[in-house]
Amino acid sequence: MTQLIESIAALRAALEPTRRAGRTIGLVPTMGALHAGHVALIERARAECNVVVVTLFVNRLQFNQAADFELYPRTVESDLAACAAAGADYLFAPPQQEMYPDEPRTFVEVEELTEGLCGAFRPGHFRGVATVCAKLFHIAGADRAYFGEKDFQQLAVIRRVVRDLNFPLEIVGVPTVRELDGLAMSSRNARLGAAERAAAVVLWRAIEAARRAFADGERGAAELLAVARRPLDAEPLARTEYVELVDPETLAPLERVEGESRLALAVWIGDVRLIDNAPLK
Ligand code: PAF
Repeated sequence: MTQLIESIAALRAALEPTRRAGRTIGLVPTMGALHAGHVALIERARAECNVVVVTLFVNRLQFNQAADFELYPRTVESDLAACAAAGADYLFAPPQQEMYPDEPRTFVEVEELTEGLCGAFRPGHFRGVATVCAKLFHIAGADRAYFGEKDFQQLAVIRRVVRDLNFPLEIVGVPTVRELDGLAMSSRNARLGAAERAAAVVLWRAIEAARRAFADGERGAAELLAVARRPLDAEPLARTEYVELVDPETLAPLERVEGESRLALAVWIGDVRLIDNAPLK
């Protein structure tokens, strides 16, 4: 059974005995519309922590467009059922008023890491993510927080917040869960029509193409990116926002891939923006 909690005070009260007993709290921050990717985060937290708290909060601070925020799926009932099936103890689903009783005037801003990739196209997005995560970390007092590697830049930003601001918790990155054809699980996939869903696999094809070129010995970033772009350019329903090869920690663009790297891309399929990423080896 997962207990639904809507107020900060009630969550703190529920977690107090756990904290006093020195038992560990695992936090899984989400915006709901839970899918197999979220379930993997909850199951990992369940395996590693004594108490698991999933949060469900559609955070308006991280949306660039009001319409996108309004249209975001709200599915509390099925999310609660998914949390129960995955073994979460609490689902913390506060109303907007509980998290932002006043217009916030304090924000967490991460420099450099947020300037490229998605940050270049979604001004203010990572400020909203970093701010709400800082609030959730404080509210839950968690020992570990779990995030999917699909949102690779988000994961890097949150790790940096925790390091720079000395939050006493460990950030755990969990590998991306994929559909059978390779499409990364995302709440946005539900918005794809049949033709768009078929076209969406092109993100994974782009990654695979670059990986093959890398396995064949190509190390130049421009050449690897050109290979990744080929399937994207050939797909009529796809509009590429960016494809980049970056250092996995600093997210700085690479000229050659000699060590660790991450191929990251954002592609519009119709009016749905999808992202994906993977190491080349
Ligand atoms: O990845 C998400 O769902 C959100 O960005 C997060 C981390 C829950 C913050 O609102």
